[in-house]
Amino acid sequence: MPIGYKKWVIYAVGTICLGLCSIGCVAPATPKPITEKDVPPRYAVAVQALKPEECGQCHPHFYDLIKTKGGKHRIDCKQCHVEFHIYRPGRVRYEQILPKCEACHDLVHGADLAQCSECHSEVHAPLDIPAGRALEQGCHICHPELDKEMKTYVTQHTEIYCSSCHHTRHGYVPECLECHQPHESSMTQSECLACHPPHKALQVVYPEDIPQESCAICHTNACEALKRSGTKHSVLSCTKCHPDKHRTIMRCRECHGEPHPASMLQKFRVCGQCHGTAHTLCRE
Ligand code: HEC
Ligand code: HEC
Ligand code: HEC
Ligand code: HEC
Ligand code: HEC
Ligand code: HEC
Ligand code: HEC
Ligand code: HEC
Ligand code: HEC
Ligand code: HEC
Ligand code: HEC
Ligand code: HEC
Repeated sequence: MPIGYKKWVIYAVGTICLGLCSIGCVAPATPKPITEKDVPPRYAVAVQALKPEECGQCHPHFYDLIKTKGGKHRIDCKQCHVEFHIYRPGRVRYEQILPKCEACHDLVHGADLAQCSECHSEVHAPLDIPAGRALEQGCHICHPELDKEMKTYVTQHTEIYCSSCHHTRHGYVPECLECHQPHESSMTQSECLACHPPHKALQVVYPEDIPQESCAICHTNACEALKRSGTKHSVLSCTKCHPDKHRTIMRCRECHGEPHPASMLQKFRVCGQCHGTAHTLCRE
C-alpha cells in the first residue's frame, strides 16, 4: 500500500473523532453549581492583599529595616512596590520593577541634589545616610553657615573639611579625642567644646564661670603670681579681666575709671609704672 493512502485514512478517522468530541462540547451536561458547603474551609475566605508582615515572612531583612529605621517610609510595602514578583530575565528588567523616588517626591533639595539614591542608599532606612563622596558634595548646600564659618576662620580643620570629622553616617558627631591629645589627661569633650567652637577652633571663647584650673594648664605662672600676691585682685576670676574671647585684656580704666587726679595721670600715662602688673599689684 502506498504511503499517501495510509495518511489519508488516519486523517479521516481523526476528523470524525474531533467532530464527535465537539458535539459533546456544544451540549455539555449542566454542572452542579458550587455551594458554600462544597468548598473546603481552606478556600472559603476571601483573598486579601498581603500585609507588610506577610511580605516580611519571606523578606525579613527589609521588613526589619523598615520597622527599625523606616521613619516616614513605614507605609505599606505595596504603596511603593506597586508591581513585584514580575522579574523575567530578558523580558522584564530588574530595575524596571523597582519603585522610583520621583513617583512620590519632587527634587526636594533642588536640582543640584537629584541623585537621590547616592545619598539615601537604603530606601527602607531613608535617613540612615552613609558618609562619603556623594554626601560630601551636599554639605555646603544644606549647611551653608557652617561651610562659610570654616572658610572664614581658616584653621587646619578647614583642610580636612567635613567628612573627616563627621565620618561613618550623616549626623555623626566626633569626639575631639579621636584625633587629639587633651591639654590635660582628665579633660572631657564638653570641656573642649566650652573653649573651641569646632568649626573655628582657634577662635577660643569660654564661659565666664570656667574654672581657673582650665587656664592654669597653660598659664601656671600667671595663676600662681595672682594667688601669691594676696591683693584684692587675687579673688577675682581670670575671666573678670579676660572675658569671652581668649587673649582679651581689659584695661585698668574700664573698671577703675579715673582713680587719681588728672594732673598725676597726665604725667604717668601707664598705671603699671606705679602698680606693676595686674597680677601682682606692687605699690612701690
Ligand atoms: C518608600 C518606598 C518603599 C517601601 C515602603 C518599601 N520598599 Fe522595598 N524597595 C523600594 C525601592 C525604591 C527599592 C529598590 C532599591 C534599590 O534600587 O536598591 C526596593 C527594593 C526592594 C526589594 C529588592 C531588593 C534588592 O536588593 O533587590 C525587596 C525584596 C523589597 N524592596 C521588599 C520590600 C518589603 C518587603 C517592604 C515592606 C516591608 C518594602 N520593600 C517597602 C522602595 C520601598
Ligand atoms: C512566599 C514568599 C514571598 C512573599 C510572601 C513575598 N515575596 Fe517578594 N520575593 C520572593 C522571592 C523568592 C523573590 C525572588 C528572590 C529574591 O529576590 O529574593 C522575591 C522578590 C521580590 C522583589 C524583587 C523584585 C521582583 O519583583 O522580582 C520584590 C520587590 C518583592 N519580592 C516584594 C515583595 C512584596 C512587596 C511582598 C508583599 C506584598 C512580597 N515580596 C512577598 C518571595 C516572597
Ligand atoms: C510610594 C511613595 C514613595 C516612594 C516611591 C518614595 N517615597 Fe520617600 N516618602 C514617602 C512619604 C509619603 C514620605 C513622608 C512624607 C514626606 O516626607 O514627604 C516619605 C519620606 C521620605 C524621606 C524622609 C523620611 C523621614 O523619616 O523623614 C526620605 C529621605 C525619602 N522619603 C526618600 C525617598 C527616596 C530616596 C526614594 C526613592 C529611592 C523614595 N523616598 C521613594 C513616599 C515615598
Ligand atoms: C547629597 C546627598 C543627598 C541627596 C543627593 C539627596 N538627599 Fe535627601 N536628604 C539628605 C540629607 C542629609 C537629609 C537630612 C537627613 C536628616 O534630616 O537627618 C535629607 C532629607 C530628605 C528628606 C526629608 C526631609 C525633607 O527635606 O523633606 C526627603 C523627603 C529627602 N531627603 C528626599 C530626597 C529625594 C527625593 C532626593 C532625590 C531627588 C534626595 N533626597 C537627594 C541627603 C541627600
Ligand atoms: C540635603 C540636605 C543635607 C545635606 C546634603 C547634609 N545635611 Fe547635615 N543635616 C541636614 C538636616 C536637615 C539636619 C537636621 C536634622 C535634625 O535636626 O534631625 C542635619 C543635621 C546635621 C548634623 C547634626 C546632627 C545632630 O545630631 O545634631 C550634622 C553633624 C550634619 N548634619 C553634618 C553634615 C555633613 C558633615 C554633611 C556633608 C558631609 C551634611 N550634613 C550634609 C541636612 C543635610
Ligand atoms: C578627624 C580628626 C579630628 C577631629 C575629630 C578633631 N580634629 Fe582638631 N585637628 C585635626 C588635624 C588633622 C589638625 C591639624 C594639626 C594636627 O595634626 O594636630 C587639627 C588641628 C586642630 C587645632 C589647631 C588648628 C590650627 O590651625 O592650628 C585645634 C585648636 C583643634 N584641632 C581643635 C580640635 C577640637 C577642639 C576638636 C573637637 C571639637 C577637634 N580638633 C577635633 C583633626 C581633628
Ligand atoms: C574638627 C572636626 C569637625 C569638622 C572638620 C567639622 N565639624 Fe561639624 N561638628 C563637629 C563637632 C565636634 C560638632 C558638635 C558641636 C557641639 O556639640 O556643640 C559639630 C557639629 C556640627 C553640626 C550640628 C550642630 C550645628 O552647629 O549646627 C553640623 C550641621 C555640622 N557640624 C556640620 C559640619 C559641616 C557642614 C562641616 C564642613 C563644612 C563640618 N561640620 C566640619 C566637628 C567638626
Ligand atoms: C580653657 C580653654 C580650653 C580648653 C578647655 C581646651 N582648649 Fe585647646 N586650646 C586652648 C587655647 C587657648 C589654645 C591655644 C590657642 C592659641 O594658640 O591661640 C588651645 C590649643 C589647642 C590645640 C592646638 C595645638 C596645641 O596643642 O596648641 C588643640 C589641638 C587643642 N587646643 C585641642 C583641645 C582639645 C582636644 C581639648 C579638649 C580635650 C581642648 N583643646 C580643651 C584652650 C582650651
Ligand atoms: C592650651 C593652652 C592655653 C589655655 C588652656 C589658655 N591659654 Fe591663654 N594663652 C595661650 C597661648 C599659647 C598664649 C599666647 C602666648 C604668647 O603669645 O606668648 C596665650 C595668651 C593669653 C593671654 C595674653 C594675651 C596677650 O596678648 O598677651 C591671656 C590674657 C590669656 N592667654 C588668658 C587666658 C585665660 C583667661 C585662660 C583660661 C580661660 C587661658 N588663657 C587658657 C594658651 C592657653
Ligand atoms: C584684675 C584683672 C586681672 C585678673 C583677675 C587676671 N588678669 Fe591676667 N592680666 C591682666 C592684665 C591687665 C594683663 C596685662 C598685663 C598687665 O598690665 O598686668 C594681664 C596679663 C595676662 C597674661 C599675659 C602676660 C602674662 O602674665 O603671661 C596672661 C597669660 C594672663 N593675664 C592670664 C591670667 C590668668 C590665667 C588669670 C586667672 C588666674 C588672670 N590673668 C587674672 C588682668 C588680670
Ligand atoms: C575687671 C575689673 C578690673 C580691672 C580690669 C582692674 N581692676 Fe583693679 N580692682 C578691681 C576690683 C574689683 C578691685 C577691688 C576693689 C575693692 O575691693 O574696693 C580692684 C582693686 C585694685 C587695687 C587695690 C588693690 C588692693 O589690694 O588694695 C589696685 C591698686 C588696682 N585695682 C589697680 C588696678 C590696675 C593698675 C589695673 C590695670 C593694670 C586694674 N586694677 C585692673 C577690678 C579691676
Ligand atoms: C604715680 C604712681 C601712680 C600711678 C601712675 C597710678 N597710681 Fe594708683 N595709686 C598709687 C598709689 C601710691 C596708691 C595708693 C594710695 C593708697 O594706698 O591710698 C594708689 C591707689 C590706687 C587705687 C586704690 C587702691 C585702694 O586700696 O583703694 C586704685 C584702684 C588705683 N590706684 C588704680 C590706678 C589706676 C587704674 C591707674 C592708671 C589709670 C593708677 N592707679 C595709676 C599710685 C599710682
